[in-house]
Amino acid sequence: MSNRRKVTVVGAGNVGATCAQVLATRDYADVVLVDIKEGLPQGKALDINQMGAVLGYEPNVSGSNGYEESAGSAVVVVTAGLPRSPGMSRDDLVSTNEKIVGSVTEQVVAQSPDAILIVVSNPLDAMCHVAKSVSGLPKERVFGMAGILDTARFSTFIAWETGSSVKDVQATVLGGHGDQMVPVVSATTVGGVPLRKLVPEERIRSMVERTAKGGGEIVNLLGTSAWYAPGAAAAQMVDSIMLDEKRVLPCTAYLEGEYGIDGLYIGVPVKLGSAGIEQIVELDLTDDERNALKASSEAVREVVGVLTT
Ligand code: NAI
Ligand code: 2OP
Repeated sequence: MSNRRKVTVVGAGNVGATCAQVLATRDYADVVLVDIKEGLPQGKALDINQMGAVLGYEPNVSGSNGYEESAGSAVVVVTAGLPRSPGMSRDDLVSTNEKIVGSVTEQVVAQSPDAILIVVSNPLDAMCHVAKSVSGLPKERVFGMAGILDTARFSTFIAWETGSSVKDVQATVLGGHGDQMVPVVSATTVGGVPLRKLVPEERIRSMVERTAKGGGEIVNLLGTSAWYAPGAAAAQMVDSIMLDEKRVLPCTAYLEGEYGIDGLYIGVPVKLGSAGIEQIVELDLTDDERNALKASSEAVREVVGVLTT
């Protein structure tokens, strides 16, 4: 390990290992992978390190079953917990993952009191509440990854539909990380041209629906949930914080009145920099989008209501 700043990823399963791998290739920080399964974080760290000799990055990933090695992390990504299996909704994971995320958060913060926490475990919006209340950290330093993934799914469908490069698609998905998420069609453009000028309304509706059910589509194919795009999405948030990029990215943030929502974690665009969430960006939504966001927030509130933390 070098003396670079440290990023810890808890959970060395599919999403956590992918996030660690993407961060290793970025090559600006030491990465610590933590998991309760013996051998798993150590083995994956070794493999990722050896990939560096092929791809050209330094072998600065370590694996551990404890938290000592994570001490002094600048950012901690929490992916520990059960994923969905076919027939399960993200909300079905709430009681098991509440315990896991609670215990992980406690141990993380004991070693890294100045860290910024990025929650990935599902049900995402509710797990952010758990991490915030257990850690006692300010809202600017505890938030979740979902919107980048949901937006990546919507952007992919738009690129295919319009025959355009995905790099020229500008889209945002807001709301809870559930089937009532809100792709903001009014703010979606391809090469600067509004989506509604390029694609008929009924095709847009079908892409919106496929996006909202995008996690389930992959669970049905794989028997477990997605990890490549989720791992990369979490790493993009780490980049923006560690490199103080100040990217505006859709993240799950604690709202206190913004978008007319109070006391709830939900997906909105935020500016991410070295202090964590540096600004919540308020988009002009259409009435339909605003109502859809309200419905999505009510669905999130129901799951949050089940928490015991
Ligand atoms: P996985 O099963 O591949 O990995 C989870 C890992 O967590 C396992 O290796 C397990 O040993 C570890 N773990 C369990 N309890 C632990 C504890 N107390 N301390 C440390 N590690 C512990 O699952 P996968 O696919 O990586 O998904 C992880 C979580 O992320 C799931 O809850 C999943 O639903 C969620 N997810 C969220 C997404 C989002 O957009 N927010 C996207 C994809 C997955
Ligand atoms: C996903 O959206 C299940 O949250 C996970 O792929």
